[in-house]
Amino acid sequence: MPPHATDIIVVGAGIVGCAVASELARRGASVQLVDERPAGMGATQASAGMLAPYKEASAGSPLLDFAVRSLDLFDDFVTRASSESGVAVPYRRTGTIEVALQEGAMGKLRATAALLASRGVAAEIVDGHTARGEEPHLTADVAGGLLIPAHGFVAAGDLTRALATSARRHGTQVIEGGRVVRIAPAGGDMLVATERGTLAGNAVVLAAGSWSGQIDIAGLVARVPVRPVRGQLLRLGWNGAALRRVTWSDRCYLVPWDDGTLLVGATSEDAGFDERATAAGVRDLLEAACDVVPHAWTAGFLGARVGLRPATPDDLPIIGASHVLPNLFYATGHYRSGILLAPLTAQLVADAMLDGRIDPALAALRPQRFGDV
Ligand code: GLY
Repeated sequence: MPPHATDIIVVGAGIVGCAVASELARRGASVQLVDERPAGMGATQASAGMLAPYKEASAGSPLLDFAVRSLDLFDDFVTRASSESGVAVPYRRTGTIEVALQEGAMGKLRATAALLASRGVAAEIVDGHTARGEEPHLTADVAGGLLIPAHGFVAAGDLTRALATSARRHGTQVIEGGRVVRIAPAGGDMLVATERGTLAGNAVVLAAGSWSGQIDIAGLVARVPVRPVRGQLLRLGWNGAALRRVTWSDRCYLVPWDDGTLLVGATSEDAGFDERATAAGVRDLLEAACDVVPHAWTAGFLGARVGLRPATPDDLPIIGASHVLPNLFYATGHYRSGILLAPLTAQLVADAMLDGRIDPALAALRPQRFGDV
């Protein structure tokens, strides 16, 4: 990617596209952000906003270091998005508790605790009695748990809207332009054709999540191998004192909001581009939630949200310039961690496109690991 991209089209207004657009515009680029839908209506809308790298990324994966670096940026990222946009963004670092409902499941938690200790990360194994002291709503059957204080959660929808607004305030044109159908070089320019017209710039960032492999790209035979993995997420109206922190079992996670809402996530399904909630998904999540916190049976049912996570064959995002079209930059495939990875993704994309600085962490995320894309 030549360090002279100044007129950049970002395709996709999910959390990643909005974060990238905001960062590029803040650093002086002229930016157009285009999507078929309003900001945050793809995978982002079904995100519970968990910020939990030590749960989501496995030991030894390049994702872990990337996610930890990104989490470190979050305080400033949220503060800036909120102050630049005027949009309030609820954000908590209350930690997480992962619970084992049988003694046999404690081994896995102890292994995670040992890994965290080796990295100098604070974490604590607790027995069932202490776990219930930490979280009184837990089932009496709980065998124990793992507390990780660094974790937290953020209101993903509000954060995405804040980033879109801050991008706009820095001059970004936000365009609900119909579906993007084709990206093509033309002379020194890059053209992005949508169902409603054609945009021109001198570089493109493809941040279209699950749809990234569906867009025709002139000169490319192969496509980035991003596939949709459906996630269903429930919203419950909680009665009484809220859970104190994000709570995980092996079948669900629970995220408590100050407004009395409890989010319960999430299914993981290969269902193509089908964005419907299903009876089976809702039933499975309700049963899983009530097994961990039986009081959930008394909650109101407020609805289900559905998003398509953009998965890649190695579960790592794809961030870097195209091998074939150097003015096409990918920022996609963030799978289960788009919210968590957004701050660092935006920073490194802007470093690469505006300053020609390629962070070493991008070596493992290069698009070329999937061929000539
Ligand atoms: N990051 C949680 C999920 O994808 O369900």
